[in-house]
Amino acid sequence: MERTFLMIKPDGVQRNLVGEVIKRLEAKGFTLVGLKMMKVSRELAEKHYDVHKERPFFQGLVEFIISAPVVAMVWEGDGVVASARKIIGATNPLTAEPGTIRGDYGVSIGRNLIHGSDAIETAQREVALWFKEEELVSWELAIGPWLYE
Ligand code: RTP
Ligand code: MG
Repeated sequence: MERTFLMIKPDGVQRNLVGEVIKRLEAKGFTLVGLKMMKVSRELAEKHYDVHKERPFFQGLVEFIISAPVVAMVWEGDGVVASARKIIGATNPLTAEPGTIRGDYGVSIGRNLIHGSDAIETAQREVALWFKEEELVSWELAIGPWLYE
């Protein structure tokens, strides 16, 4: 089953939106298989955003991610990588559609509340970077037949 890595960024935690984010993904029908609150090390933040290391916003982004706790999660379900990105919305909350997390709760690109893996290969890399195998729980939703034909 497909998995994705999502992280509620420090602003999402400080703004008390952890429950709101989890609620939206649960209600959609995805399965939570990994969850932890943590303060992120500089090393992990730099590795996570490695693709952006030459970009002008990289240092500020890393400083922000390590500035306060985050909530790291792994979610499972058919098509969860692309679907979670839609639920999250566009990078800039000002242009993100209403109804998305960023569209509903944010006003600036550097405070966009949540990260989501952008492709299946990225998700595999990020899940392995943030979680040990034993921190992930494989389980079957009892309501599975009511979600999947
Ligand atoms: P993320 O990786 O955090 O899920 O966000 P994303 O895919 O929607 O956007 P991405 O291009 O990967 O950018 C990563 C994060 O860097 C910050 N950013 N700031 N100041 C800027 O121009 C700028 N551009 C990007 C955002 O926090 C973005 O989520
Ligand atoms: Mg990204």
